[in-house]
Amino acid sequence: MIVLLGATGYIGEAFARELSRRGASFVSLSRAHLDYTRFEVLLHYLQKHQPEFVVNAAGYTGKPNVDACETARADTLVGNTLLPLTIAQACAATGTPWGHVSSGCIFAGAKVSVNGQTQAEKDLTRADLKKLVAEHPEAIHGFTEGDEPNFSFRQPPCSFYSGTKALGEEAINGVGRSYIWRLRIPFDEVDSPRNYLSKVQRYAKVYDNVNSISHRTDFARACLDLWAGRAPFGIYNVVNPGFVTTRQVIEAIQRILKPARKFEFWENDEEFYRVAAKTPRSNCVMDTTKLLAAGVKIRPVQEALEDSLKNWKREG
Ligand SMILES: NC(=O)c1ccc[n+]([C@@H]2O[C@H](COP(=O)([O-])OP(=O)(O)OC[C@H]3O[C@@H](n4cnc5c(N)ncnc54)[C@H](OP(=O)(O)O)[C@@H]3O)[C@@H](O)[C@H]2O)c1
Repeated sequence: MIVLLGATGYIGEAFARELSRRGASFVSLSRAHLDYTRFEVLLHYLQKHQPEFVVNAAGYTGKPNVDACETARADTLVGNTLLPLTIAQACAATGTPWGHVSSGCIFAGAKVSVNGQTQAEKDLTRADLKKLVAEHPEAIHGFTEGDEPNFSFRQPPCSFYSGTKALGEEAINGVGRSYIWRLRIPFDEVDSPRNYLSKVQRYAKVYDNVNSISHRTDFARACLDLWAGRAPFGIYNVVNPGFVTTRQVIEAIQRILKPARKFEFWENDEEFYRVAAKTPRSNCVMDTTKLLAAGVKIRPVQEALEDSLKNWKREG
């Protein structure tokens, strides 16, 4: 039996759906019924039921966006750092293998190759890098699982949310038998305030940047495939291979959904942060070589994006 924590959440829902589709035997635990955030409660549950695997899709995300975490710092730290640590220790004590949903938002930018030299660049909105992204996408490489997070409390600036996600990884990495699955900007075909493709359609003005993104079902499948295939434990970037610019996403929305509205973009970072955002945003490209080498099949980002828009289901 598999235990799913956080099944009531946006990402937990996708795991529950995928586990059901596979006909897997699983139990969803909610804090409302069993407070799995308390070490002794979780330990006792694991000792009693001896699950074969635990999925942790629980955590604290700011709503409507990451700015909300700046004013709810205790909740953010508890949900994203202390909770994974508690689960790691309870799982280690009972010898239970488990997987934790982390985030790619602990990185900023990409690794960029110019004239045979590759170096990390945090701001891909710089004019010369924007040109490189458009004209030579092959020069843009994602961060790998071996790279140190560069958008964290250790390498500021970062948002408080990102800081706690990086600290959460640090706290659990190497404790017991666990996967750390890095999700990045979830989207799919179902219109929802949590879906990236819905969010960009509702913003008054759009912020253009470069990102790897994760189709929600593809993400849950890939994570469960790692466990099903008994891939080595450790960190995995679980995004659809490749990257997109927000302009490319808007272009696909206009071409496929043909919305009545016109889209405007923020002039630059200065205008975006002055008017629309409080805390720094992570925008980054992630490398999927390790995920693919583990034998996981996951669609390239362009295919997942087009497919979601072609099968778009409006809310309500
Ligand atoms: N959505 C994103 O954009 C995104 C991107 C990258 C990574 N992630 C990560 O993915 C995980 C799930 O995110 P989500 O978007 O599915 O979040 P969500 O919709 O807010 O759901 C999170 C679930 O976690 C449980 N939970 C346990 N402790 C909590 C706490 N202290 N505060 C709040 N909720 C708590 C709750 O379930 P019960 O109360 O029923 O137990 C809640 O339904 C998080 O770790 C998040 O950092 C999300």
